[in-house]
Amino acid sequence: MKQAISSTEPDWRREQIRGYWDPGRQLLRTIRRYQAIREWPALPRKLAGYYLVLLHRFWSVVTGADIPLNAKIGGGLMIPHPNGIVIHPDADIGPNCLLFQQVTVGSDGKGVPSIGGHVDIGAGARILGPVSIGAHARIGANAVVIRDVPIGGTAVGVPARVITVMDRQEG
Ligand SMILES: CC(C)(COP(=O)(O)OP(=O)(O)OC[C@H]1O[C@@H](n2cnc3c(N)ncnc32)[C@H](O)[C@@H]1OP(=O)(O)O)[C@@H](O)C(=O)NCCC(=O)NCCS
Repeated sequence: MKQAISSTEPDWRREQIRGYWDPGRQLLRTIRRYQAIREWPALPRKLAGYYLVLLHRFWSVVTGADIPLNAKIGGGLMIPHPNGIVIHPDADIGPNCLLFQQVTVGSDGKGVPSIGGHVDIGAGARILGPVSIGAHARIGANAVVIRDVPIGGTAVGVPARVITVMDRQEG
């Protein structure tokens, strides 16, 4: 039986680098390492910080993704085709999410999205403003989400509308 993906417990295996060329996971690893050194003493943090900022620039250029070093993203994020992904630094993304290419999680000038755990976001989708996306939701390719999506909901279209809500327990 297929294992259900948790919306609360990060599955770090999803971020493990596979093979020699894995730019999306390299970018995530750089972000994770940068956030991990925040607790270090000042001098080593500064030196490691310079190196990781450069590395982050390198992988950002390679991937064409704009995921800030201080992004608030839960563990287990998957970005299999990272090109064009843009995430606002204040947006919250829960564990075990999946973002396809050209996804924007951004501001509408009034606020930024809060995305639950295990949310799959289709290619080209835009999630804009202070909306809340429930755990286990699915956002269709090219959707423009400007209203909340419930837990287990599937939203498609421009502007996005909820077409189904999965009957499933939170977990
Ligand atoms: C949203 C999604 C998850 C829904 O999948 P699903 O539950 O199997 O839904 P269905 O294919 O049964 O479609 C249900 C309805 O939504 C519509 N729909 C599905 N995806 C849509 C989309 N992205 N935009 C607009 N409408 C969409 C279908 O036309 C159908 O409408 P109908 O009931 O009027 O016929 C899926 O269509 C999707 O967009 N996934 C993203 C995949 C992706 O980005 N892949 C990138 C790989 S590189």
